[in-house]
This record gives sequence, structure tokens and C-alpha cells, in this order.
Amino acid sequence: MNATLASKPPTDFPADFVWGVATSAFQIEGAPAADGKGPSIWDSFCQRPGTIADNSSGDIACDHYRLWESDLDLIAGLGVDAYRFSVSWPRVRPGGAGAWNAKGLDFYERLVDGLLERGLKAYLTLNHWDLPDELQAQGGWAHRDTVHRFVEYARGMATHLGDRLSAITTHNEPWVMAVLGHETGLFAPGIKDRAVAMQAAHHLLLSHGLALQALRADGCRSELGIVLNLAPVQPATDSPEDLAQARLEDGRLLRWYMDPLLRGAYPQDVLDFLGADVPQVQPGDLQAIAAPMDYLGVNYYSRSVASAAGPWDVHRGGREITEMGWEVYPEGLTELLLRLHRDYALPPVYITENGGAFPDKLANGQVHDADRTRYLAQHIAAVADAMRQGVPMKGYMVWSLLDNFEWASGYAKRFGIVHVDYETQHRTLKDSALWYRAFLQGQRAARGVQKRLEAALPEL
Ligand code: FCB
Repeated sequence: MNATLASKPPTDFPADFVWGVATSAFQIEGAPAADGKGPSIWDSFCQRPGTIADNSSGDIACDHYRLWESDLDLIAGLGVDAYRFSVSWPRVRPGGAGAWNAKGLDFYERLVDGLLERGLKAYLTLNHWDLPDELQAQGGWAHRDTVHRFVEYARGMATHLGDRLSAITTHNEPWVMAVLGHETGLFAPGIKDRAVAMQAAHHLLLSHGLALQALRADGCRSELGIVLNLAPVQPATDSPEDLAQARLEDGRLLRWYMDPLLRGAYPQDVLDFLGADVPQVQPGDLQAIAAPMDYLGVNYYSRSVASAAGPWDVHRGGREITEMGWEVYPEGLTELLLRLHRDYALPPVYITENGGAFPDKLANGQVHDADRTRYLAQHIAAVADAMRQGVPMKGYMVWSLLDNFEWASGYAKRFGIVHVDYETQHRTLKDSALWYRAFLQGQRAARGVQKRLEAALPEL
């Protein structure tokens, strides 16, 4: 663990920098059919044999639908400023269209009020992947009508909760939903068709832009933005083949989303690569997608290395590898942020997810996850580095508050800074949570000094 960072933060984060922890509905809530909730594509996907590594599902997860109050106490106890969570669309509007479910809306209303009572800011994500099953039956994200259903959903939630939300994120990681959900089929809805995937990607982006326009027209005062999973894509060697491969992967992962959002156009090299698989884009779509954002959320876990010869062996990097098989590569976060700042006119940027799965051991009520603590400290330092070089950083959120349902990996991979015993639902703060709490105390102390200095200035 980086003792310097823990005891005396070397970082110069501004007083209004937002520190948080993040979760998502499907990964923690459980209660898949409680109080009128409809099924989501992840409920159905989990039932298909062979989709989830440990054959598990989100049926119980962290039982957060029942334990939300004590979980909010836990969050407040960490001393963070904000909690990033998502709403389960089929909990509040079970079929994705038609009647709203008052009991589902009440749950999120209590959650948000509970956050505010505890002095925490609410950062709400509308779509963290759990699309209502009924919308999938009609074609899901590949079907243009879903765009309009999403805008209705966004408006409904903003009307219900808008004045109490600090921020509303439209989508979490459209690349994952489009490519893993519709091209490789590893994630729900499990489709394997590149043309369908790219149409879904376009509709996700379009629904984001149209939702922003609609929420602004409705007078919503929350910060509005989107969350992307991004990484620097480095070529394995400097051969022309690897360089071309890296350029293509960068195009498909980063520029396919950043270019339309911030420049109003899809990248030509990716359109050329896609050929017949390019999505149908209607007049006005690209203007809608480029609606100004109040912030950009970036989820960062590792770099990506591109090799024309096939998948690159992650062990060749000589770095520590997490339980997910991802390299620990903190300098990649600085590199990524500087590149975004150089290539785009960025709005303020939050790191909306960052963290790691490590082989935790619970013994005597403790989890000594020095690996995770080191990971977090190094990545926070990487954010500070980018900020000092001019990137407009606004906040940082750890993924995740709790160990939870890690999608196709099931419960085997633990990302929490809080350990969850899935038999008893008992929560235990890992060493990383204790470190984060101490780090944030240090930040607050530094803010206090800063404020006292500012107050003293006129007398100097
Ligand atoms: C991201 C997801 C999040 C979590 C982390 C590990 O892609 O947004 O839900 O699964 O990865």
C-alpha cells in the first residue's frame, strides 16, 4: 500500500471534487419479481444454460432491495460524497412501456431520500444493462422504437426524482451492451450478429441524445451525461499490422462513441471496416447524439493491447493480473485522460468506475486486500496526474461498494471494498474500504486547511 497517499494525500484535488462508490441494480438488488417488477434481459439470460460461469443469477445477489437502509448507512460511514447506483427499468415500468409500477418507483424514492438524509449526493444511472424483457421481445436495442421507450422512461424518472438527483447518466457502457450483448453474445441478450450490434449501438447513442434534449426541455436541473468504458489501445509491436489493428480497436471502442457524442460524426475508418454492417442512421440522428453533455463518465480498469496475430497474452506485459485476467496498468488511465483532453472538447469528467477483483480471504472478520488498496491508490494518483496536466476532472467513484453479481462471471469475482457473505448477507469492510475512508478523511482535512487559508486571505 502506498503509505504516503494514505497518510498525507499528495494530491491536490479541489474542494468540490466528488468522491463516491458505485453499484448497479441488477448486480445487487435481488428481488426479481417483488412488488410487481417485470423480468429483464439479464433475468432471462441467466436462465439459459452455460451463460453464467457458476450457473448463478441475480435472484438474491446482495439482497439490497431489502437491505437498502443498512447499505446506505454503510455508504455514509465511508465518508464519501456520492453514491452512483442504477434504476432497474422493469422495476419501475415492468414492460418497458405501458403502466408504471408505483411500488418500484417508491423504492427508488426512498433510496434517494435516504441518501439525501445522510448528506450524500445521488448519481442515478438509467440503463445499466437490465432492459425489460418485453422490449427485447420486440427487438430490443436494435429496434428503433426502444429509443422512444427509453426517452419516456428517462422523463418519467426525472419527473419523479429529478429535483433530488445530482446527476443522471443515460447509459452505462454502450460498447458492452452493443458488442458483448449483440456481437460476441457473451452478455445479455446473447445475440451474435455484428450488424445488429452496430444498430443497437446507434440506438443507444440516439436515445441518449434525445433523452438529454427531452430532460432539458422538461426543466431538469440535474447534471446530464453518459458513461463509457474506455482504455488506451496500444499496439503489441510497431509493425504496420499491429498499428492498424490498434487503430481499428481504438475506433471501435473509443472513437465510435466519442466522435458522435462530441463531434457529431461516426469515424470514417470504422464505417469503412463495417461495410454492410453499418447501422441505419436517419437524418437528424447525429445532431441529436451530439446534444451538449454536462459531464462524461469514464469507466477504467486496464489498458488494451492490440495484436494482428490474435489475442495478446496479458502475461507478456509483466504486470500484476487481477482475478478478471486484467493487467493492473494505472498509467494507462493518465494516458487515456490526456488523449481524450487532446482530441475532444471535453465537458467535466468523472471516473465513474475503477477497481479490481482480487482473491480476497475473509478471516477473523477482516479482509487484508492490500492488492486492491494499492490498485485504488495508484489509480487515484493517475487521476491526479491527469488533472495537474489540465484534464477537467470532477470526481472519482470506486467500483464497487459491495461484492456483487459480476455478470457472466457470477459471484466468483469480488470487486467490493465491502465483503459480502452470500449465505448470511453479512457485510464486512475490507482493508481497502478502511483505507478509502482514511484517505477521504485526509482529503476533508486538506479541504478544511484550504478553506481556513482562503478565509484568512483578506487579512493577509
Ligand atoms: C463494468 C460494469 C460494471 C462491473 C465492472 C467490473 O464493465 O459497468 O457493472 O461489472 O465492469
